[in-house]
Amino acid sequence: MKKILGALFLLVTLGTMTACSSGTNQKSIQDKGKIVIATESEFAPFEFKTLINGKDTLVGADIELGKAIAKELGVKADFSVMSFNNVLASVTSGKADIAIAGISVTDERKKAYDFSKSYYEAENVVIVKKTDLVAYSTLDSLSGKSVGAQKGSIQENIAKDQLPDSSLVSLTSNGEMINELKNNQLQAVVLEKAIAEGYISQNDDLTIADLNLKSTATDAYAVAFAKGTDKKLIASVNKVIKNAKKTGQFDAWIEKASTYTQNKVSSEE
Ligand code: ARG
Repeated sequence: MKKILGALFLLVTLGTMTACSSGTNQKSIQDKGKIVIATESEFAPFEFKTLINGKDTLVGADIELGKAIAKELGVKADFSVMSFNNVLASVTSGKADIAIAGISVTDERKKAYDFSKSYYEAENVVIVKKTDLVAYSTLDSLSGKSVGAQKGSIQENIAKDQLPDSSLVSLTSNGEMINELKNNQLQAVVLEKAIAEGYISQNDDLTIADLNLKSTATDAYAVAFAKGTDKKLIASVNKVIKNAKKTGQFDAWIEKASTYTQNKVSSEE
């Protein structure tokens, strides 16, 4: 009997411990006076580094959104820059309170994370060299070719599903992926349109391929939280998103970000 009770007690304790450790709550963020936001730094116009007064500065629409969330909570925004493939895991491990990195909401991810309302609708495109525009004008024409996608992104799945005969090359850094495309190690790269356009505006040898990826189920960006996060915190984030969308603030952030040049340095880690 004692043994059974002991085992039961252990189970209950463990259960409560997991319930508490998964997800952060608003109060603990307010108590520590800062919100740790996991992000990345090669994803203009959402998050990237640019030189401002000679200083490497993290800017972009997601960064502004993060600052607005911190302001709503009355705390400091503490951005933690990491590779994209570590961003989601960092909210589960508790390394970050929330993640903002152009993260697309998918059914798969919804099983493991909580999400805010979405704040941006993205579309996927393929970038090629201008000189290959005619050669790669159908999905089939890329069969046997090397196609790049960012490690941990939904673009990896898009490439696997829609370009099954191409060889997928997963890279951590978008900047590196673009370099490999420019020097012919990759023949094509899958990126979301806004990001692709940013790179194309800085590289006049690149262009968007004239081929249509099947529109994948929604590709909308949202803020990610650990599963089981305090509903109050999610509601506060939703309030900021709703307001930024309604007032046109979010579009203005994207507009402003488009006036900066993305540094050609590769990301941390
Ligand atoms: N939206 C895509 C995804 O969630 C790509 C996001 C990449 N974000 C970044 N900051 N590199 O998988």
